[in-house]
Amino acid sequence: MGRDAMDGAGADDSHLVLVGLMGAGKTTVGYQCAKRLGRPFVDTDDLVQTAAGMTVAELFAVSGEGRFRAMEREAVADACASPTPAVIACGGGAVLHADNRKRLQSCGFVVWLQAPPEVLADRVGAGMQRAERPLLAGGPASTLERLGAVRAGAYEAVADAVVDTEGRSVDEVVGAVLEVYPQ
Ligand code: S3P
Repeated sequence: MGRDAMDGAGADDSHLVLVGLMGAGKTTVGYQCAKRLGRPFVDTDDLVQTAAGMTVAELFAVSGEGRFRAMEREAVADACASPTPAVIACGGGAVLHADNRKRLQSCGFVVWLQAPPEVLADRVGAGMQRAERPLLAGGPASTLERLGAVRAGAYEAVADAVVDTEGRSVDEVVGAVLEVYPQ
C-alpha cells in the first residue's frame, strides 16, 4: 500500500489527505481534524462547485461526469499546491485518475476512511445527502457496493494508512486519523 515509485524528489508531504467512498466521513472528519491541527480545511467538491458556480449534482446534469472529473483534477492539483499545510478531503472518485493519485501521494499523507457499503448507505441516507450525489441516483447500497469493488485497488494504491470508521463516532475517527498521521 501507499508509497511507491512516485515517492521521492521534490515531494512535499505537508498535507493530510482523506480518501474513501461517499459516506466515509471525509468532509466531517476532515473538518474536525483541521480544527484540531489548526489548519485550513479544503474539500475538492467545494473547489469544483466554486469554480463551476453550481452544485456537483447540477454540474453532472448540465455538463456530464467527464466535465466534473476534469474540474476535479484541477481542484486536486490546486489543493495539493497550497503552500500552507492543510487537511484535504477528496471526492470519492478522485482516486480513479492516476494524475490525482500521483499528486495526492506526493503532497501529503493519505488516509483511506473505510466502512462496509451498508454502513455508507445508511450515512448518505435517502434525503438531500443522496440528492446531492448524482452517482447514487440508482440506489445507495448496491451502488456503493459496486463502487467499492471497482475502486478498492485505487484506494489501496494511494493510501498510506487505513482507518476503519464502522461503529465509531466522528470524534473516535478523528482520533484514529490523527494517531496514524505522523507529525
Ligand atoms: C463522487 C463522490 C462525491 C462527488 C461526486 C462523485 C464519487 O463526493 O465528488 O458526487 O465518484 O464517488 P463525496 O465522496 O464527498 O460524496
